[in-house]
Amino acid sequence: MADVMAPQSQRWAALIATFAAHAERAGFGLVLTPLIEHLEVFLRVGESTDIVRKEMYDFEDKGGRRMAVRPEITAGLMRAFGEHRPPVPWKAWTVGPNFRYEAPQAARYRQHFQVDAEIVGTDDPDADVEVIALLDGFHRALGLSQRSLVVNSLGDDETRAAYLGALTTFLDQHRADLSEQGRETLGLNPLRVLDSKRPQDQPVVAAAPQVLDFLTPDAAARFDRVQEGLKALGIPYEIDARLVRGLDYYNHTLFEFPSHAIMATQNALGGGGRYNGLVEALGGPAGTGGVGFGAGIERILLACDAEGVFPAPSQRVRVFVIDTTGGSEALAVSAELRADGISADRGFDQRSMKSQMKAADRSGADVAVIVGPDELASGVVTLRALRGDGRQETVARRELVETVRTWLVTGLMTGLST
Ligand code: HAM
Repeated sequence: MADVMAPQSQRWAALIATFAAHAERAGFGLVLTPLIEHLEVFLRVGESTDIVRKEMYDFEDKGGRRMAVRPEITAGLMRAFGEHRPPVPWKAWTVGPNFRYEAPQAARYRQHFQVDAEIVGTDDPDADVEVIALLDGFHRALGLSQRSLVVNSLGDDETRAAYLGALTTFLDQHRADLSEQGRETLGLNPLRVLDSKRPQDQPVVAAAPQVLDFLTPDAAARFDRVQEGLKALGIPYEIDARLVRGLDYYNHTLFEFPSHAIMATQNALGGGGRYNGLVEALGGPAGTGGVGFGAGIERILLACDAEGVFPAPSQRVRVFVIDTTGGSEALAVSAELRADGISADRGFDQRSMKSQMKAADRSGADVAVIVGPDELASGVVTLRALRGDGRQETVARRELVETVRTWLVTGLMTGLST
């Protein structure tokens, strides 16, 4: 679990603002749900899912209730949907941390943040395309290009039953060739064997039956519609019939955006799919479909680093106030500047002029406003350019804000703020 310090945190703020702008432009509203839910909420994600079975931070609270810190966001959002019954289609976006007691490795953490978007209450395949397009557009707005889109379909209940039967038979026949974990996964959920990254399992996985051969005509037509939508929007994709993803609640569309810039096994910059049974399982109306994705902020920023895009925005203030009067001038001057929309910081602890000047230089500000006892007595302040031509000028105290504003604007032309 990592601390996020400035200036890196500025990048987080900018990333979240970019996502919010994209989501809200597409009609999604921000929804915030608790970090802690009753354990049962997460059990609905699927008891054979790793994040539920062995990675959950669960505990008994002081009232004897079994609780858990969320390993993912979708279950809590669907619990909220079932409770509040908002009008459908419900388009929700959210952001926040998730906790998984995984073996930490490159790009895999015990606390990770996701931005997430969901559309609930419509079965329209266009909704699947909309969420994919949202994530794709967001990645592109950050400047990411070295990644691709992989899609698959798990079909409907009938598809699943037929495919699971065939897959289980096949994997049982090849049980001896699987790794120990592969055999364990087979006992819990044969589909998840396809998700194995272990080299020993790969030949079996490669030869296993493929879900796309088992799609019912309805499920196949639905998958075609999703692909048509992606083509209509010019979003390139590849089909990977072995994409199953780590969570049990999916049916029909599945998708993931692997990064080609991060050299870690954990390279998904986001993924999701359709989960038509989850809403009902969490207390919502029967037959309510949903589709959405989660995208990991830490991983997206790693990919931005690897691609050299989306740098941390500058965090410096424009003005630094130096007050050697021992009074409240620094407070008053900073407040006036900030009220006018000009960013300003100041020295503390009544330090010497020299030490406050050093602090001003370190701050990266363009202009220092200096108020000493003489200036205070004559109702003036001294302005000094900290870059550019280094000019200095004494101005009337009441003209301070206006003069600073002029300096900053004209300074753009004279190199003051470059
Ligand atoms: P997930 O694939 O488990 O799906 O996580 C979504 C994204 O979160 C991943 O693609 C990855 O970018 C990031 N992520 C997951 N685990 C970690 C980790 N340990 N460290 C760093 N980043 C991580 C879900 O959570 C589903 N709720 C997505 C969804 C929403 N499906 C439908 N709606």
